[in-house]
Amino acid sequence: SVMREVTGINEMEKLLHKKLNISKVIIVAGDSDHSPWVKKEIGLAAANCMKTLLRGDNIIAVTGGTTMASVAEMLTPDVADGDLLFVPARGGIGEDVKNQANTICAMMADHTDSKHRVLYVPDEVSEEMYKSIIKDPHISEVLRLIKSADLLVHGIGEAITMAQRRKTSASNMDIIKGAKAVGEAFGYYFNEDGQVVHKVETIGIRLENLSEVPNVIAVAGGSSKSKAIRAYLKKAPPSTILITDEGAAKSLI
Ligand code: F6P
Repeated sequence: SVMREVTGINEMEKLLHKKLNISKVIIVAGDSDHSPWVKKEIGLAAANCMKTLLRGDNIIAVTGGTTMASVAEMLTPDVADGDLLFVPARGGIGEDVKNQANTICAMMADHTDSKHRVLYVPDEVSEEMYKSIIKDPHISEVLRLIKSADLLVHGIGEAITMAQRRKTSASNMDIIKGAKAVGEAFGYYFNEDGQVVHKVETIGIRLENLSEVPNVIAVAGGSSKSKAIRAYLKKAPPSTILITDEGAAKSLI
């Protein structure tokens, strides 16, 4: 639009696309740290982007968080012409119910008249627990669906904010702070170089498998998340589409 030309948003998208080495960058005006409606705009941009990617029947894996909740709010039944199935990308990563991937899946299914699955597993599973959990037929079926997802839509958070929101144990907090983590996505914590410094032990999608998912949309905005976004994108698959706002984009350039 003319507005996007005048404000330089188109130019910023091009610059960031080159710099970040990912498939596409979409920027909405404003800074969601200061203006709550900007998060709604991010949600709308993500919903529209999903619409361009979805043809026929699709399995969509999602993570939790407030940005993902605003994506869910903006979805409508015409997002796809086939059947959709929403699945949580990973099991428990310490979030309250309202921020959980299970909740977001249910909201997305509700808004699009489609189906969803839940993954009820404890946060932080031990090695032995992991081995027995994945034998459960319901859980192994959901894990199979996650592996065959056509699209992954996920949030990115600031590391310490996320560790606090999840009531992370003091010892893990020491690890996260000691390693200077700045970003978090799917339960993985990253330092400025994009190295994983800590991860929540749960089941579901692993960072190593992200590149096997045909389409990935990362949604995160606000100037406070710029370091987190930059760090995570060093590890992100090149197919990633970033949906962000001007607040984050300005500090990413
Ligand atoms: O905990 C789920 C999650 O998607 C995290 O991986 C991410 O850091 C966070 O939520 C983002 O939450 P918000 O959109 O509320 O900042």
